[in-house]
Amino acid sequence: MSPSSRKFGFVVVSNRLPVDRIEPENGEGSWQRSPGGLVTAVEPVMQANDGAWVGWPGIADREYDAFESDGVHLVPVALSEAEVADYYEGFSNDTLWPLYHDVIMPPTYHREWWESYVRVNQRFADAAAAVAKKNAIVWVHDYQLQLVPAMLRTKRPDLTIGFFNHIPFPAYGIYSQLPWRKQILNGLLGADLIGFQRGADAGNFARAVRRSLGYSAKGTVVEVPEKGPDGAPAIRSVIARHFPISIDVAGYEELAEREDVKARAAEIRHELGDPDVVMLGVDRLDYTKGIGHRMKAFGELLEEGRLDVRNATLVQVASPSRERVETYKTLRDEIELTVGRVNGDFGAIGHQAISYFHHSYPREEMVALFLASDIMLVTALRDGMNLVAKEYVASRIDDDGVLVLSEFAGAADELKSALLINPHDIDGLKDAIMAAVEMPQRERQTRMRALRKRVREHDVERWSASFLDVLSGVNPDRAPDLETGDDDSDHPAGEK
Ligand code: G6P
Repeated sequence: MSPSSRKFGFVVVSNRLPVDRIEPENGEGSWQRSPGGLVTAVEPVMQANDGAWVGWPGIADREYDAFESDGVHLVPVALSEAEVADYYEGFSNDTLWPLYHDVIMPPTYHREWWESYVRVNQRFADAAAAVAKKNAIVWVHDYQLQLVPAMLRTKRPDLTIGFFNHIPFPAYGIYSQLPWRKQILNGLLGADLIGFQRGADAGNFARAVRRSLGYSAKGTVVEVPEKGPDGAPAIRSVIARHFPISIDVAGYEELAEREDVKARAAEIRHELGDPDVVMLGVDRLDYTKGIGHRMKAFGELLEEGRLDVRNATLVQVASPSRERVETYKTLRDEIELTVGRVNGDFGAIGHQAISYFHHSYPREEMVALFLASDIMLVTALRDGMNLVAKEYVASRIDDDGVLVLSEFAGAADELKSALLINPHDIDGLKDAIMAAVEMPQRERQTRMRALRKRVREHDVERWSASFLDVLSGVNPDRAPDLETGDDDSDHPAGEK
């Protein structure tokens, strides 16, 4: 059978493929794995179930044939340069992203961006429909593809369709700004199961459905009025509930146990001048992450003499992201100005206040950084989950280290033994940082043990297994039984 006519029983659809196409100016192109949590979660399910993954290879104006990688069939979807600007940078990341993150930055509404979003969503839906076997399960991911579920259902009513929203779903007072609010809700309601990070996100969605479309949404079930096969009115039930995502805990633990990683952690501390306290921030350079708030709090603590630059330092890793979007350019300038100011005002020779890195690092180096840091600062103003918080916890196999965690990150619903903070309250944040600095070892250990227990018991495999168990259960007469590799997932992740 030619690769293009192969069909699959399980299809994942996301904006990005789990590989990026790298095309150097002179030299041969290659595929590079992007090691996200989603890949780790879904790959074993794909390998066990004859799976395909539909997504964009991260480069404009290039068409690639489908190919196999690590036992998974990858189906690249092409985007033109104009579509990258309008659908990806524009509607996805300059309309939906700020809107869904509580308008921290003002969303921009452009009708041409919306038109591009509709066209590109249709292309993803067509690509998924073309590779899905009869009665297959299709799992669509994230805010870039919210119209795909309904488009798929129209084209392929035999499919069982799941959708997972990785970012927050805002309160109706904010969501209702969106000129296309009904179209997006109808797009999502094409799914049989819609997953969110937090119970509050699922609640916001149900309210939006009631207020905007007038449908009944009680508990976790939305009733969508439709026409039955005979043309008579019928009701289709859609489940909308939370499934908090997680990480590959075992993978992080394995790295944290490695002697070379531990040695690197010691080396990092030494290179930082062997201070008493190392604090760490690790984020995509995004305005939702509260990077400036954390630097302000740290700068004030130095200014007030509550911390001394000779024995306390902040390491900030800010990985480059969406660099052609104006708000991201401005943010980079602001953060880099702040780093310069704090270092200029408070640094001493051999003692930098903030070590700032605008790049990404391999996982080994990240785990070494986690092990080298006494305090992890997660000060997001709004965040669907924040997997870095879970990565820090999973890596601290020594049961040490303190997590300072924003209550506006989804992870706060689960990681209750962290020091929970409101990042807008700079005084409160400063007090929490000092509490972390002064925390006795016994308390650090008790808290970290509780945090580790939580993430170990709720890893990413359990997350995908619980979502897929509920999804394959909605159409028991036709959806295939997926091999999810989890025997203990009769209740969704996040529920006790
Ligand atoms: C968030 C989104 C993902 C997205 C990622 C990186 O985690 O939920 O859908 O892939 O950011 O952003 P990018 O725009 O580079 O794909």
